[in-house]
Amino acid sequence: MTYFTQKIAVVTGAGSGIGRALALELVGRGARVAICDVDAAGLAETEQLIRAAGGEVRSDHLDVTERERVLAYAAEVADHFGAVHQIYNNAGIAFTGDIEATDFKHLERVMDVDYWGVVNGTKAFLPHLIASGDGHVVNISSVFGIISVPTQGAYNAAKFAVRGFTEALSMEMASRGRPVKVTCVHPGGIKTNVARNAGQVDGLDHDGLATTFDRIARTSPARAAEVILDGVQKGRTRVLIGADARVIDLVARVAGPHYQRLVGRLAGKAGL
Ligand SMILES: NC(=O)c1ccc[n+]([C@@H]2O[C@H](COP(=O)([O-])OP(=O)(O)OC[C@H]3O[C@@H](n4cnc5c(N)ncnc54)[C@H](O)[C@@H]3O)[C@@H](O)[C@H]2O)c1
Repeated sequence: MTYFTQKIAVVTGAGSGIGRALALELVGRGARVAICDVDAAGLAETEQLIRAAGGEVRSDHLDVTERERVLAYAAEVADHFGAVHQIYNNAGIAFTGDIEATDFKHLERVMDVDYWGVVNGTKAFLPHLIASGDGHVVNISSVFGIISVPTQGAYNAAKFAVRGFTEALSMEMASRGRPVKVTCVHPGGIKTNVARNAGQVDGLDHDGLATTFDRIARTSPARAAEVILDGVQKGRTRVLIGADARVIDLVARVAGPHYQRLVGRLAGKAGL
């Protein structure tokens, strides 16, 4: 028996990367999963992998920014399985560019998916998690929810917002005696399609940015999923993934707001 045995877990953005790895690891640890994504082909592949591993899965096309759909989806999943215990709000997108050069529409889109998508998933599933008597909310922020870096203003804003929202929820659930634990996850670089799927301002080289990311990202999605579920099982409120994330967290704590001088200088040298 593990913390996940026979639990019903929902993973958003499960058609790729960390979401896919999470769904597979959850099934490996005994959970039954509901997976969703906007990418139908990626989602079908994840579903196939789960079935091949002998897991039980429900799969739905879902855009996490569509609030009414997310609310209906939560009710459908609860009805389908009879309960929902865990929501992994993982779906996300990235965007690169100086704030000065970034259109409002791109700033808003990142916030819509990365922040409001998390809010929609959390609020839609919370009543079901409370009703389960043993719930868990797991929200994926980033190391960029701990420090900001030049060219990531949109993403930084959304991931800091996820952290603020998630930490408030964590304290509320504990102090109101609700049977729901809350974990905020801050991955460092994970080898996924996030940079290939990302947008950028005109004039920046998409393939060059993706290639640089592929070189920097050190942790596999499978390892990220293991670290997340180990932290969830231990009831951790914050989970850092990778040595890079641990170093960044340390710098933020030791340097406080002065981290900006150090990171700004390093980013300048790297051409950001
Ligand atoms: N890869 C990293 O280095 C890294 C680091 C820190 C945080 N993260 C975060 O981890 C999460 C997963 O990212 P990943 O690295 O696996 O990237 P990925 O691009 O491989 O996967 C993201 C998935 O989210 C889906 N998605 C995008 N918009 C959606 C929407 N509106 N509704 C539903 N699904 C949507 C995509 O189709 C894709 O399948 C994201 O929140 C990302 O910001 C990733």
